Amino acid sequence: MTEKKVYPPEMMEKLISLAKRRGFIYQGSEIYGGLAGTYDYGPLGIALKNNLKNLWWRMFVDGRDDMYGMDAAILMNGRVWETTGHVAGFADPLVECTKCNRRFRADHLEDKTKCPDCGGALGPERQFNMMLSTRVGAMEDSSAISYLRPETAQGMFVNFKNVVDSFHPKLPFGLGQIGKAFRNEITPRDFIFRLRELEQMEIEYFVREDDWQRAFEEWRVAMGAWLDLIGIDRARTHEVDIAPEDLAHYSKRTIDFEFDYPFGQKELYGLAYRTDFDLSRHSEASKVDLSYYDEATGERTVPHVIEPSFGVDRTLLAVLLSAYTEDEMGGETRAYLKFHPRVAPIKAAVSPLLKNKPELVEKARTIYKALKAEIPQIIWDDNGNIGKRYRRQDEIGTPFCVVIDFDTLGENPELLDTVTVRDRDTGTQQRLPIPELISFIKKEIQ
Ligand code: GAP
Repeated sequence: MTEKKVYPPEMMEKLISLAKRRGFIYQGSEIYGGLAGTYDYGPLGIALKNNLKNLWWRMFVDGRDDMYGMDAAILMNGRVWETTGHVAGFADPLVECTKCNRRFRADHLEDKTKCPDCGGALGPERQFNMMLSTRVGAMEDSSAISYLRPETAQGMFVNFKNVVDSFHPKLPFGLGQIGKAFRNEITPRDFIFRLRELEQMEIEYFVREDDWQRAFEEWRVAMGAWLDLIGIDRARTHEVDIAPEDLAHYSKRTIDFEFDYPFGQKELYGLAYRTDFDLSRHSEASKVDLSYYDEATGERTVPHVIEPSFGVDRTLLAVLLSAYTEDEMGGETRAYLKFHPRVAPIKAAVSPLLKNKPELVEKARTIYKALKAEIPQIIWDDNGNIGKRYRRQDEIGTPFCVVIDFDTLGENPELLDTVTVRDRDTGTQQRLPIPELISFIKKEIQ
């Protein structure tokens, strides 16, 4: 077994502080003291998140002939969650301290008798339902109760028939969607790892029953390819087959993709064989026939389902942790984000060497506008001296810094209309002719 990579000391504090200082992720409702289990994505955080979601959509929906995209409502008829068993059983074991009244997840405690905070005695274990409920409409009675979905999956199952009727897809085929989900976690913790408001990217892939093992294996490999695409450190990922006694009630086989976070090896993604559980239950409860007429076999059956499920926030956390690097450059220690250029929130920063030379600024502005028109995630940066700009851009993971100097203007005639392009990881610079800049950056961010 290969040894686990070691994080720098206080890794989470360093990452959380960088994320806040540089505008990636803020505590939710911070000026009011926060709201546990919620975080807000700032300008760079949303850029990173959008890049990841767009790559996911391109790889798993637009890039395939057997996938259909969806965007279902967050609020669903309460019967959906009764049918799936969530109302009765989507629960975690809770214990409460009899002295300080703090609540804990029993399965996260080594000693289930003593409060880890104040040492008081813990009360009996009970099941705590994680569904967040709300009221819909003007009625105040129980008929108005609805739930914020705890997974995006059900929005796809309840639309199975709609998509089949509109598109007549052949098995195997899948639905994919990205959206928010809500869970009233007992102990939200570890930054954006365990949230109460989270986002998921999920796929429900419908197969013939006898084809599930092949499809499961195909998706296991595809999930690995995704980790590579977005630059998640594969030395820190693990595939763990969940033991039969630990499987969710709907699953016959699940693999967790786990990641070595600074706080331990824990779940990043899940891949589950959900059998025909959901479609059959919804068919029964709604009295709408959700079977599928298979032209290839001439049979009518309820398809079985393979579900690759990706948390967006955990993706960001694993990408940030994989990218975080400390090294020495120019005799100084530097901390920077070594994002793959395709996920980096900013692809390049454009600067005039000196901001008090109008001829440099004018030329730099022209180049900046031309680049931005082709590659929107480009920024103008003329703050401080050039060394400071490089440090700042390194820290937010900008792979390239483009600098316009006097040679660009022809001080050295051989270098007329060339710019320097500095590489974030090595600090080395190359000179590129202006007409080649766009294609150079476009190639790197593919
Ligand atoms: N539809 C299946 C499903 O929801 P899950 O394992 O409960 O399965 C799927 O959740 C993924 O959603 C997880 O692998 C994780 O990436 C993410 N996730 C789940 N709960 C989360 C939470 N409280 N905070 C952040 N992400 C979470």
